[in-house]
Amino acid sequence: MNYNSGFVNEVLANFHASFLGDKDRWCAIAGLGPEGDTYRKKAYQKLYVLRYFPAYYLEYCILAEALRRRLGSDCQGIKVASFGCGICTDYFALKDNLNGIPFEYDGYDRCEWSTQELIPKLNDSDFSFNFFNTDDFELGDLDDVDVFVFPKSIGDIEAGGDLEHLSEVIASTKKNRVFFLNSYVSNGTDVKSVNAGYFNRVHGALVAKGFKTEDKVGSTTWNGERFGDGLRKICWDFFYPSEYLVKCADQGSMEKCSSCGVVKLPVMTNKFMEYQILEYVRK
Ligand SMILES: C[S@@+](CC[C@H](N)C(=O)[O-])C[C@H]1O[C@@H](n2cnc3c(N)ncnc32)[C@H](O)[C@@H]1O
Repeated sequence: MNYNSGFVNEVLANFHASFLGDKDRWCAIAGLGPEGDTYRKKAYQKLYVLRYFPAYYLEYCILAEALRRRLGSDCQGIKVASFGCGICTDYFALKDNLNGIPFEYDGYDRCEWSTQELIPKLNDSDFSFNFFNTDDFELGDLDDVDVFVFPKSIGDIEAGGDLEHLSEVIASTKKNRVFFLNSYVSNGTDVKSVNAGYFNRVHGALVAKGFKTEDKVGSTTWNGERFGDGLRKICWDFFYPSEYLVKCADQGSMEKCSSCGVVKLPVMTNKFMEYQILEYVRK
């Protein structure tokens, strides 16, 4: 598995420098969590990337490597659709781990994620970001997709209300072999998160169209010997440079500082890792 630490450091450096310029917005976003319309705020997007990008990129690298093994060396190329892609962290993990298997990536997000401009070199011809709500897909739109990704997004899509519709569009595919790379927002415990249960809607729609899987739809996993292990123990290349941790000179000067989300540490352990790869086929 290839964790491109040089690239991750470049992303962190850019977002950190830009976030320092938003100091007057910090208190306004300090109480926000990753949900709903929060992602539309540029300052929050930067904070989100600083907190989650390295850990989520690592998780998507693990999934991308698992996909590469399943596809095999004679694979001629794949088309990928990622729902709720955000800053497209999964795209970089695929790019760094498919070892030359050609792929075309279409990321869809109902939020514009304009902070993508801070990502180095995002102008590949195999990449496209679509400012698009998954509710607006029509039957047939995803017919040529081989790999569907839910990168920490299925709970948000379910909360928006139309996962049922997306499931129908996916299941109406003309393909007879499709993959799912599912990464779930974990609850920080080793008990399966409720988010993972939402995939049953997609599973049900696929089964109704004659698909079967030998993978365990009901089980998710994380890497490491023990739950709570540091990510560096799992992947030696994972390293979060301390200069990119957010420090606030005013910390402790107000009562609300005690629950500040801006100075909260980034994800550094496997406690928020929860994923599965599923392969569906039909005769
Ligand atoms: C927890 S974030 C995950 C972002 C990114 N995939 C990552 O790995 O960091 C969930 C994303 O799903 C997006 N989203 C939620 N519902 C959506 C929908 N119906 N259609 C498209 N995007 C959606 C949100 O805007 C948000 O960017």
